[in-house]
Amino acid sequence: MKKFNKSYLVHKALQPLRNFSFQGKKYHYFCHKYNSSHLNERAVELPIVWAEVQRYKSYEVLEIGNVLSHYFPTKHLVVDKYEVAPGIINKDVVEFKTKKKFKLIISISTLEHVGWDEEVKSKGKIPQAIRHLQTLLAPGGTLFITLPLGYNSYLDEHLRTGKIKFDETFYMERVSKFNSWREVDSDILKKKPKYGSPYENANVVVFGKVKKSFAKDITHLAGTFVPRSNKNISVLETREKMEKTYRQMC
Ligand SMILES: C[S@@+](CC[C@H](N)C(=O)[O-])C[C@H]1O[C@@H](n2cnc3c(N)ncnc32)[C@H](O)[C@@H]1O
Repeated sequence: MKKFNKSYLVHKALQPLRNFSFQGKKYHYFCHKYNSSHLNERAVELPIVWAEVQRYKSYEVLEIGNVLSHYFPTKHLVVDKYEVAPGIINKDVVEFKTKKKFKLIISISTLEHVGWDEEVKSKGKIPQAIRHLQTLLAPGGTLFITLPLGYNSYLDEHLRTGKIKFDETFYMERVSKFNSWREVDSDILKKKPKYGSPYENANVVVFGKVKKSFAKDITHLAGTFVPRSNKNISVLETREKMEKTYRQMC
């Protein structure tokens, strides 16, 4: 039996017994033959991101970089510059334009390639991509990105200096040859983890969330929208009340 099959079968057999914690929740390590997910960072990225995706309708979700469809039955829109497959839009992330807004935009270990594995390197292209993706979020929407550390030195520097700053940032570190991971704090950035060492592929993965508030998008309603049911409601009603009303309209 090939070594690959053996390691897959061992991980598959142990999968129900092995789990990890992320943000207070328990997840099973993901085990799949495609790209040997059981041996690398996909083991933690996939269960975390897939749990998030399942909270939404597929038309509310945009994925940058075609990853999830290799493992799950997906129906959401995917933008990927190079991977050719039915339904994938082959566009550079910064060039993808649409009038549609998404409640959830996800990207699994993709943005580290942007401006790095390209003919012309560009230090500013990942921040540009993140800003661009924020413009595609619906009010109340979330951008959820995973990124390996140590792969792209521009990215690592942006994270260390705060040029790239998420609303919420979490870190997972690989801690064993058998592909066990644990959540760690931001001090891990100072340790400058390497990609490919001590373990193959990523040794630390950053999970970043950017949330688009309702408030930013309801300011234009302030002077124009008065709920039909109560014409006396002042346009100066609390932000909370307006957000609730806006959500009901959507
Ligand atoms: C994480 S890999 C996906 C590889 C593989 N499908 C997997 O599941 O691991 C990153 C993906 O990002 C895409 N990509 C790289 N640069 C891009 C860019 N500037 N805009 C959009 N997609 C890009 C590549 O085509 C590649 O499919």
